[in-house]
Amino acid sequence: MSNPIKLRKAVVPVAGLGTRFLPATKAIPKEMLPVVDKPLIQLVVEEAREAGIEQFIFVTGRNKSVIEDHFDRHHELEILLAARGRTEELEILSRDIPETGTISFTRQQDPLGLGHAIWCARHLVGHEPFAVLLPDVIMKSKPGCLQQLVEVFGSHPQANLLAIDREAEENLSRYGVVSIGEWSGNSCPISGIVEKPSPGTAPSNLIVSGRYVLQPQIFAQLESQQPGINGEIHLTDAMLGLMTTQSFIGVLHQGKTFDCGDKIGFLLANAAYGLADERFGHILRRELVALLSQS
Ligand code: G1P
Repeated sequence: MSNPIKLRKAVVPVAGLGTRFLPATKAIPKEMLPVVDKPLIQLVVEEAREAGIEQFIFVTGRNKSVIEDHFDRHHELEILLAARGRTEELEILSRDIPETGTISFTRQQDPLGLGHAIWCARHLVGHEPFAVLLPDVIMKSKPGCLQQLVEVFGSHPQANLLAIDREAEENLSRYGVVSIGEWSGNSCPISGIVEKPSPGTAPSNLIVSGRYVLQPQIFAQLESQQPGINGEIHLTDAMLGLMTTQSFIGVLHQGKTFDCGDKIGFLLANAAYGLADERFGHILRRELVALLSQS
C-alpha cells in the first residue's frame, strides 16, 4: 500500500559554535567546511532533496548568515561568469539553490542543546511528521540515508525512525546509543536510548547517526524536557519520553557514515569523496599512495 503521508519538511540545526574545529570555525560556520568542493550543509540538503523533502527549516544562530547567502543567488558572480562564458559554473550555481520560498530560517537564541534547537522549529513544522538532518554527519550511500528512512516510513507512517550505525566501543560515549528488539532485515524496534553513555555502560554498539523522521508529538515532549547530560536539552531524552506512547524503529544505514564534527571523520570524508570523484579521483589515489609510502 502506498503511503498517504508525504514527508515534506526537514529541520536542519546549524546553530552550533563549532568549538571542535577551531581555529577554522572562528569566522566560518562549521557547516560551511568543504568536502572536496561542496560545503557540508549542501551535501546534507542534496541528500534531503533526493528523499523528496520540499521545505527546509534551518535553525541558526549568530554568525551563520553565510549559510543563508550560500542558498541565495549571487548576482555579481552570475554576471561575471556569464560575461566570461563560464556556463558550467553558472549551471552549478543555479542547480544548488532551492526554489524561492522553500527555505526558512529561525534562530535558536540560546545554546541550550539539540533538543531545544529542534523545538525552535515547532511553528514552522506544524502538525506533520518531519525529517531532522544533522549537518555534521555526512552519509555516503545510494540511495541516500534519508531516502532509506523514507522507504521504511512508507510502511510505518505512524512511527519515528532513526538511522543507526555500528560504532567502536571506545567511541560510544560521544553519541546517542539505542537498545533494540529483534532485527527484521535492516530495521529493528528501538526499546531505549541513552545520550552519551559513560564508558562501559552503553546498551549496544548501535549509535544514532544524525538522520531522523519524527512525529510532531516530539514538540510537546521537548516543551517540558529537562536538561540532561552536560546541562543540555537533548533530542535523545525527548525521544525516550515519546517511546512510552509511540513506536521507534532503527534503520541500519546501508553506506558509509562520516562524523565531520570530528577531525579524523572530516579528513576521511574528504578522502572518500575525493577518491570517488570521477574528475580527479584517480590522481588523488596515485598521490595518496605515494604519500603513504613516504610516511
Ligand atoms: C548528536 C546527538 C546524538 C547523535 C549525534 C550524531 O550529538 O545528540 O544522539 O548520536 O549527534 O552525530 P552531538 O554530535 O551534537 O554531540
